[in-house]
Amino acid sequence: MYMKNLLQLFFLMSIVSIFLPKSMAQSEGERLFIQICRACHTVGEGRLVGPDLLNVTKRRSEEWLLSFIKSSQTVIKNGDNDAVDLFKEFNQIIMPDQTLSQSQIKSILTYIEGIVVDKTKTVSGTEQFKLQNKEGLNIGKLRAEDFIQARKLFSGDIRLINNGPACISCHNVVDDNLISGGLLAKDLTSAYKRLGGEMALNSIITNPPFPVMAAAYANNPITPDEAFLLTAFLYKANKDSIFQWTHKDYQNSFLKNGIITAFVLFGGFGLLWWNRKRKSVNHHIYKRQLKTK
Ligand code: HEC
Ligand code: HEC
Repeated sequence: MYMKNLLQLFFLMSIVSIFLPKSMAQSEGERLFIQICRACHTVGEGRLVGPDLLNVTKRRSEEWLLSFIKSSQTVIKNGDNDAVDLFKEFNQIIMPDQTLSQSQIKSILTYIEGIVVDKTKTVSGTEQFKLQNKEGLNIGKLRAEDFIQARKLFSGDIRLINNGPACISCHNVVDDNLISGGLLAKDLTSAYKRLGGEMALNSIITNPPFPVMAAAYANNPITPDEAFLLTAFLYKANKDSIFQWTHKDYQNSFLKNGIITAFVLFGGFGLLWWNRKRKSVNHHIYKRQLKTK
């Protein structure tokens, strides 16, 4: 009887351990995946910036995977059909090159291969993800003041808690209330749409997969709350981008000022050259010629 219980317990524990997150003994592959790839990929939780990598080792040959993960753009530029198709499908978003050794890439692939997914929980598409802040609010529920605060965080008017550099020092966003930002990195006005939504943005901001940006925040990490607000700002920037430059009635005032200026100019010239308008230029010359004779 006692023996049987023990066996049952053992059986139960081994089942549970399959489903337990393997964080207890994090492998090198897992560490690298979380550090570099997780910003853009899930395994079995749907598309993020890049494709879901579940079963990728069955879809692609190891050789292909090793070269693609090392330098995806090299494979694409060499004209590999699968890679080119994938690149087009993913809005030509560039997967950054990695300075990883073959064995490190292999350890990541082993990690991906080993992930067991609960089929009932599998979701597809980024729509399934909804980002929330500490209070459980979605971006859609934020108030106007929150978005103003978010903009200030982006522009550096409010300092990041850990003193990281303001996003605007490297990135531009088209927003009438902002000065133009840095040109070092991509314009982020439509990053929300391009990269496929809030989860993707949030993970890029929390855990930047780009060496320059990662270095900028390595010792001054962005907090989850800040990442949430910055994601909200980029959501708003994308949504409002069609209104920028027109929502302040620039077009109307251009027209009005244009008409006034035209009146002043033409009226002024008309007065100044009143005589010219009435008499021909030739008339003056003709008279002058007559005098000198
Ligand atoms: C900045 C986002 C980003 C990061 C970081 C990133 N990827 Fe990608 N990945 C992509 C995109 C986007 C694609 C789709 C192809 C393209 O656009 O080049 C892709 C495609 C892939 C593919 C091909 C998938 C398929 O269905 O054939 C693999 C494999 C892959 N990535 C693995 C990785 C691994 C491993 C890492 C971490 C070392 C990583 N990626 C980091 C964005 C990223
Ligand atoms: C030191 C410069 C620097 C700072 C500061 C910086 N970034 Fe970046 N960021 C980069 C670089 C470089 C890339 C890589 C892509 C590129 O070349 O634009 C990047 C990429 C991104 C991307 C992906 C863009 C895309 O379309 O592929 C997002 C989103 C982003 N940064 C958001 C932010 C946010 C939000 C902040 C502020 C917390 C920030 N960045 C601060 C340099 C920076």
